[in-house]
Amino acid sequence: MSNYTRVIDGLHGRKIVLGVSGGIAAYKSAELTRALGNLGVDVHVALTEAGARFVTPLTFQALSGNRVWTGLLDEEMEGGMPHISLGRGADAILVAPASANFIARLAAGLANDLLSTLCLARDCPLLVAPAMNRQMWENPATQRNVATLQADGVTILGPAVGGQACGETGPGRMLEPVELCESLLAFFTPKLLVGRKVVLTAGPTFEAIDPVRGITNSSSGKMGYALAAACARAGAETVLVSGPVALSVPMGVRRIEVTGALQMRDEVFAALTGADAFVAVAAVADYRPAEPVAYKMKKSGEAIHLQLAPNPDILAEVAALPEAPFCVGFAAESHDLDVYAEGKRRAKRLPMLVGNLVSDGLGGDENTAVIYDEEGRHPLPRAPKTFIARQIVERIAHLLPTG
Ligand code: PMT
Repeated sequence: MSNYTRVIDGLHGRKIVLGVSGGIAAYKSAELTRALGNLGVDVHVALTEAGARFVTPLTFQALSGNRVWTGLLDEEMEGGMPHISLGRGADAILVAPASANFIARLAAGLANDLLSTLCLARDCPLLVAPAMNRQMWENPATQRNVATLQADGVTILGPAVGGQACGETGPGRMLEPVELCESLLAFFTPKLLVGRKVVLTAGPTFEAIDPVRGITNSSSGKMGYALAAACARAGAETVLVSGPVALSVPMGVRRIEVTGALQMRDEVFAALTGADAFVAVAAVADYRPAEPVAYKMKKSGEAIHLQLAPNPDILAEVAALPEAPFCVGFAAESHDLDVYAEGKRRAKRLPMLVGNLVSDGLGGDENTAVIYDEEGRHPLPRAPKTFIARQIVERIAHLLPTG
């Protein structure tokens, strides 16, 4: 992983205490420990006695690179009191999994083991990821306890709905490690777009020639998806109109899948109601086959001629609306970026455009970009698209007219 990846996520260098209570989902916490470590987080694990029966301290020690704590008193810990020392300087305590029993103890303010005492003695945020059987979760006692924790300022992450270890299906599954990392990241992201609605396009379009063939391009969707994720983390209601890509929906984002440019335009216009900003990251095909064939074309050996019709320019149409949202364009150029990108911004009368080189931006995980707006050009040095996305969101939030 590059250094950039570590900077990006707003998690690098943070100290997180991961509390693991007793539940089968504890096995996922081992993966979570590794995932957080990969993001540059300094993970310190505190296990309850029951938690240690599901996954051994040794596993967490190997994955976190730090000593794992289980007891209230420890001769090796400064002052012999891990419940005080461990929480010092922590950016957050995340309890995952949090069993029904542990949630009840937290709600009651009990301090009868290391983890509960640590939570009580903390001066940092506490996040809790419940994991239990659906009936335990739905029980009024658990719901009461969860409400108490929320009223006390504790952040509850999940639970998810789905198949459970007990064979039942319903709410109570712990969020997946990747979702917990994303939730932590969102937790630490400034809410610059709260109360705003952002519509984005991403990926390529696929313009059908016949039912199996078509014209497309090599946009992976990574830049647009990173931007959608960054908007959602910043608190925006986020709608992503996406061409065909192999990416999963970012947390907190509503995705609308489309194929061709015409469908993309229809879905963008349908989603625009109440939008504060429209961000066009998609590499939309400029042309489409004028008359797509309804059946699979047969090979004849003869040359064929494909008649192409121009596609509508979605961004230009949105920007020309009488009450247009704040429009952000993208431009991928192979050379003379400043000239072409700023030219496109002016031609489409956009308040902001992000330029990138085809050689940098297309397909990969990193990008080098320049933001162009009325105040000039603002270069964004090479970095992962997730990091570039966060900087673009900051600029959008800065330039967005106050609502
Ligand atoms: O998906 P990735 O692999 O991560 O790659 C990201 C990217 C390189 C595709 C992205 O960063 C990018 O630059 N997207 C814009 C590609 C481009 O050059 O678009 P354009 O010059 O054809 O169009 C300029 C702007 O108008 C773009 O905002 C585009 O979305 C929009 N447009 C263009 C044509 C059209 N018919 N409708 C549009 O809305």
